[in-house]
Amino acid sequence: MDWDAQIRSELEPMVPYAPGLRASEVRERSGKDTILKLSSNEHPCGPFPSAIRAVTAVLGRLNRYPDGSATALAGKLCETLNVADENLVVSNGSNELIRLIAQAVLRPADEVVFAWPSFVVYPMVTQMFGATSVKVPLTDDGVHDLDAMLAACNERTRLLFLCSPNNPTGTIYGRDAFEKFLDKVPEHVLVVVDEAYFEFVMDADFPDALDAFDGVRPLVVLRTFSKIYSLAGLRIGYGAMPAPLARAVAKIREPFNVNTPAQIAAYYSLLDEPEIRRRRLENQEQKTYLYSCFDRLGVAYYRSHTNFVYFMTKRPVEVFEALLEEGVIVRDFGTAPALRVGIGTPEDTAITIAAFESVTARLGSI
Ligand SMILES: Cc1ncc(COP(=O)(O)O)c(C=O)c1O
Repeated sequence: MDWDAQIRSELEPMVPYAPGLRASEVRERSGKDTILKLSSNEHPCGPFPSAIRAVTAVLGRLNRYPDGSATALAGKLCETLNVADENLVVSNGSNELIRLIAQAVLRPADEVVFAWPSFVVYPMVTQMFGATSVKVPLTDDGVHDLDAMLAACNERTRLLFLCSPNNPTGTIYGRDAFEKFLDKVPEHVLVVVDEAYFEFVMDADFPDALDAFDGVRPLVVLRTFSKIYSLAGLRIGYGAMPAPLARAVAKIREPFNVNTPAQIAAYYSLLDEPEIRRRRLENQEQKTYLYSCFDRLGVAYYRSHTNFVYFMTKRPVEVFEALLEEGVIVRDFGTAPALRVGIGTPEDTAITIAAFESVTARLGSI
């Protein structure tokens, strides 16, 4: 077999998604007992207690295929979000929807506009389906440059991703800027707003893209149960989208793409509003402690609306390695002069702060 001829040439320049280091690998390298994995924006607490009980109760029924339409969960989401059935799609993580939407709409020669740096999966799905990425740099404040993104649209633009708040910078654009953007974006451009960190946001000026969703406008809003709900390991997310796109996605998704424990855990998690509020507040408090540590140590960072903080460093490789030696795994971006650290429990924050103090003492500065 000539594999180069066999495999689609679009895949040739791609590299597989690189997850952060595993805690077990770092434990061996650092010799530390306590390893903090703060590289994947996961929530430090486990799933909600009601979700754990529901999943445990369903284990004996795993001989059955899941409900292929995730009926109960989809119904609950429609009610909670005030979205019609025909517009709501549940998926195997929101990542799956990013890919399915790209697969449903992209053709070679199409262009896909998104901010940069942003979520690495946008360029991956663009390349996968033979389209071209148009990366629009963030402003100096690390925010989406919505005007520049509009200017980057042309007749070939098929898709435009907005990551709100943005991963990895944790930043948001305001409501006014978003409304003006929506007024101006060309009608042939499908706008996908990825709100994976929506539940952490506490800023009154944050535009909830669902407010602009009417099922007609070419707008998709994506959310996930992987973050504040702590269900990353089960893989479940959802999206609101115009009905023709939802029908197209239904044609190309796997028949039973969302497993039963995921559907049940997500359903019960939605019922526990107080726990969501508690987690949001705790995250905010811990972020504030980390900011005060960064301020004290002279580390520059973007104020984040998520459960992670993007901080600047002139020597990312050295700082990444030094933090690993302290047992703290952060996310690096190759040679970009910045790293991203996740927010954990109060105990995690204390360890993180001690690690940053120790690294600064050792290296002089970060
Ligand atoms: C911006 C953004 N979108 C989507 C995802 C994917 O989430 P999921 O676990 O639902 O696939 C992530 C995960 O890190 C993310 O950061």
